[in-house]
Amino acid sequence: KNIVILISGGGSNMAAIVRAAQREHWLRRFGGRIAAVISNKADAGGLKFAKEQGIATEVLDHKAFPDRASFDTALAELIDRYEPALVVLAGFMRILTPEFVARYAGRMLNIHPSLLPAFPGLHTHQRALEAGCRFAGATVHIVTADLDHGPILAQAVVPVLPDDTPDTLAARVLTQEHLIYPQAVARCLERQAGLQQEAA
Ligand code: GRF
Repeated sequence: KNIVILISGGGSNMAAIVRAAQREHWLRRFGGRIAAVISNKADAGGLKFAKEQGIATEVLDHKAFPDRASFDTALAELIDRYEPALVVLAGFMRILTPEFVARYAGRMLNIHPSLLPAFPGLHTHQRALEAGCRFAGATVHIVTADLDHGPILAQAVVPVLPDDTPDTLAARVLTQEHLIYPQAVARCLERQAGLQQEAA
């Protein structure tokens, strides 16, 4: 079962998934493999890590396309070359067309740095601080056409501390993202493996 991970930046969530998979052997257990890491930015830091791990990497620059639909069509073609059972968005900073989302319905995951349904969209940490939240966190969810609104698979909570800035809060949330995202990916693979057995 191929997994394709999409990134735009540092890729620390992608790296956490790769590391957890290596450490816990769940890829082998559920017949999975991280087939490719795709970035819409050539300078995404995570590409180097992926290459070092022997994972295929691809860059598809959204700026080379006239509109969102044509980028998404090209992206889907690239992803489909790897015949993914699971598409994992890990800091992939693009809004996706409904057609793209429909193509991977039920098998595309995203992580968002807030306790959804609170604070969908950008600047979540700043907004949580401004709202006076005592707790913040991260959410892994299935991607639907409605941005940051799909069914929730996992959440983690962290306290907001009195001196927090958006950066300190983001760093605390990110450590939790690195724990819950690999677990959620593993659970999805396990579920898919279970469904296959039932069908056999
Ligand atoms: C994470 O906080 C993710 O939830 C958000 O962007 C950040 C990406 O971090 N959407 P990384 O690229 O995984 O390091």
